[in-house]
Order: sequence, then structure tokens, then C-alpha cells
Amino acid sequence: MARNTQFTALEALRGRSILRVADLNKDEIRALLALACTLKADYAAFRDTLAQRALVMLFEKPSLRTRVSFEIGFQKLGGCVTFLDHRNEPIGAREPVADYGRNLERWCDVIVARVFKHETLVALRENCSIPIINALSDFAHPCQALADGQALVEHGIALETCHLAWLGDGNNVCLSLMELVAIMGGRMTVVTPPTHAPCAKLTAEIRALAAQSGASITLTNDPSAIAGADAVYTDAWISMGQKDCAEKIASLRKLTVTPEIMHIAGPNAKFMHCLPAHRGEEVVDAVIDGPQSIVYDQAENRMHAQNALMLALLHAVPTARFAPNAAVEILANTR
Ligand code: CP
Ligand code: NVA
Repeated sequence: MARNTQFTALEALRGRSILRVADLNKDEIRALLALACTLKADYAAFRDTLAQRALVMLFEKPSLRTRVSFEIGFQKLGGCVTFLDHRNEPIGAREPVADYGRNLERWCDVIVARVFKHETLVALRENCSIPIINALSDFAHPCQALADGQALVEHGIALETCHLAWLGDGNNVCLSLMELVAIMGGRMTVVTPPTHAPCAKLTAEIRALAAQSGASITLTNDPSAIAGADAVYTDAWISMGQKDCAEKIASLRKLTVTPEIMHIAGPNAKFMHCLPAHRGEEVVDAVIDGPQSIVYDQAENRMHAQNALMLALLHAVPTARFAPNAAVEILANTR
């Protein structure tokens, strides 16, 4: 991908909201990941690029990674951040979501929100002139998928040709990864119990994206379908806000990622998890703590991928400092 194509793609992101991965196209994802790798290699070169910019974070659910990576990341680039804890008072409870947004846009440059209902994000986007970023909703976690894309590239796995396997609940993280693969052109095998497959409506939309890129998306109940995968990904069986349901857990037990499951994928497969992990449920210690695990690279990359997104949305990419490095070259050499 030529460097001027990357700049054009980043320029096109100015002022946009990102509620799901499908709000981005292939060139934009590639350019964001290249910028994220560049940032990671030399934060000092990006000092003060977000000076005088303000980020407000609205969270209806708990968080470790998302909160810390946005707060620390934005501040590292010179911006200021304020956090509003909405765990006890949903956004829109005290005053309508539209009024809330119309106030925030007078003080802030960007809103990051973690919500139960995706519609809350849509309402903010429709009533605000500043970018809205989805920090996890009931059906998407786009910032996680971008960080995961960066981790795959750093481990030498090109998104255009990767085979990503998902085992577990067909949840928000799964849907965002399906969108990422569908846009980039790789292959994804999603193994769930029949009762917990990804949302059918969104899967149909994702299949339409895959038809354009040449990606392949397979939904199955059979773990042997992950043979030869480049990476095996899992997540909590019960997402935040869902009822702890014994039947659901029982149906997922045969999809715990164990050394035997990793053996099906093969010795070179990476293990991935967005975290927090529930050891003994979706994954066992021997896998998450083992040599194939890249979970903490994923966690670290939340900050870099999100900062790349912030720089692009706020039109603050310092073009002269956008230097190549090894991971950027992987992105440059694949199509
Ligand atoms: N992966 C992730 O979003 O983690 P947190 O819930 O801790 O933010
Ligand atoms: N699927 C999980 C992801 C947490 C980062 C949840 O929604 O709780």
C-alpha cells in the first residue's frame, strides 16, 4: 500500500464516527494499523499531537483495558480526558441522549462510549457533530478488532490471507472480528453451539462484505473445522449484562480452548482472547499462559490502535513522523 494511499485513507477518516468495523474500508484499516505500528515504535515522535483536544468517556459497564488504554493513550499524545461513570445511571436516564450529546460536543472533541444498547451510540452519532467511538456495545467491539488486527500483523500473519478460528459464544467480539476478516479478505471459522451462533441478521450483512472481498466466513458446531488456523480466539461465555445461564455454559463446555484444541489448529497457531479471561471456562491456564498465547500483545495494542484512530478522526496525523518499520512493511507488501 503506497504511503500516499495511506495518507489519503487517514484523511478520509476526519470527523467520522466508528461504531463498528464495517464503518471502515480495507484501505482505512490498513492505514490505521500502519499508523498504530509506527506509534508503538516511537511514542516520543508523536508528543503533543493531541494537545488542546479533549476526550470524554461514558461507560455503562466495567472496564480495565478499554478505560486505561484510552485514558493513558490520549494523555500520552498531549490531550485531556474526563471519565463519566454510567454504571449506575444509563446514558439517557437523566436527560435525553440527544441533549446529552449536544452538551458534550460544546466542550469535547471526541466521545468514547461503552453501552448496553448499540442504539445509544447511534442516537449520540445522530445528534452530535463530534466523532463517537464504540468502546463495546451489545453487538460490536471495533477497537478490540483493530488491536487484534495489529497483533496478527506483528506476528507475521497478513489479514488478507489469515485463517482466524473462533470458539465459544457468537458474541460482540466475534461479530467485530467477522467484519474485520470479511473486509480484509481472509478466512474465518466460527465454532459455536447451535443455540449461540452469531446474530443471523449481522452475519448476512457480513457475508455480503465477504462476497466483495473474497473472504470466507464459515459457521459450524464442529471444533475440527479449526484445523490449520493461524489463530484461535475465544472470549467470555457470559458477556457483561447477560444472565449467568447454566444451560448456556453447559452447551459451551466442549469448546473450552485446551492444549488438545490448540493441537487441532497446529503448533504455529496463536491463541487470542480480548480479556478478561475466565480461566477454566473458555480457556485453561496451559493455553493462555503458554507459548502460543499473544493475549497481552492484544491488550497492549488497544492503546496504539485507538491512538491511531484518534489521530485520524481528529485530523492530527503528523505526516512527517509517519515512518516505516517492519510491521508497516508487512502491511505495505500485502494486498
Ligand atoms: N477487552 C476489553 O475490552 O477489556 P475491558 O472490558 O477490560 O475494557
Ligand atoms: N464479550 C465481552 C467482551 C468484554 C471485553 C462482553 O461483552 O462482556
